[in-house]
Amino acid sequence: MIAGALPAYDIAAIRSGLRTEAIGRTIHYLASVDSTNNAGVALAQGGACHGTLVLADTQSAGRGRRGRLWHSPPGRHLYCSVILHVHPDQSGYLTIIPLASALAVADAILDSTAIQCRLKWPNDILIGEKKVAGILCESVGAQPAPIIVIGIGINVNGRPEDFPEDLRKTAATLSGKREQPIDRTGLVSALMNRLEDRIALVSPQTAQDLLDAYRVRCSTLGQLVRAVLGENHAIEGVAEAVGVDGSLHIRRSLPAGRGPSDEIIAVHSADIVHLRKR
Ligand code: BTN
Repeated sequence: MIAGALPAYDIAAIRSGLRTEAIGRTIHYLASVDSTNNAGVALAQGGACHGTLVLADTQSAGRGRRGRLWHSPPGRHLYCSVILHVHPDQSGYLTIIPLASALAVADAILDSTAIQCRLKWPNDILIGEKKVAGILCESVGAQPAPIIVIGIGINVNGRPEDFPEDLRKTAATLSGKREQPIDRTGLVSALMNRLEDRIALVSPQTAQDLLDAYRVRCSTLGQLVRAVLGENHAIEGVAEAVGVDGSLHIRRSLPAGRGPSDEIIAVHSADIVHLRKR
């Protein structure tokens, strides 16, 4: 239950909670913005340094995956984007940056609230089957080492009734699990710290460890899923593995409930619906 005014961000306290070298060391705080990702892309194009954090209290046009809107009222939730200058060693591993970011969000939530989240492939953060956070990574500039803007939205404070009708059954908040308001300031510091840790593992030597940690937290694995690949294109089957490139390997089901087929499809981009555990 949330009563009264929630605390605003304390930027000095965010800084003093950092143990990072670069991530979050430069902070652009905006009371209101269309989208922190838009601001992040513009800053990156203007030469903003690696690790720059764009943090906003509210977004008028927060963007989700596949062109959806991201519900972004003031005072409650966390909306931020981090500018990542990809190291040349990491350029072969761009597709696992969203997975590394999702792990970092789950780590930071655990650090600051003791809530254990699971990950729905590729980068939805869940409490139970409800979505508490999402990530939108966007690329700026060209190969071999582009700049990635990692946009993160976390539903922090509020009740299901506070969400628009269409989100009430599928969205969760951290405070809903803890039944007390959650301090966004501490969560931002934890997020920057964990993001730096996980992004450091995006390298030829450590990508395997990173993916193993992801697989442990990924609740999609082992489930019967529907992968929506396009407007009129979906497949169903069991999610069997996450590949080295971060793709989801689905063993396609035979038609009419006749069980699993021999066909395994590597999915690189899709909306996943969890149908049931196997
Ligand atoms: C998703 O659909 O799951 C991705 C949601 C990403 C939302 C965040 S909020 C901060 C950043 N700015 C945006 O416009 N989007 C991301």
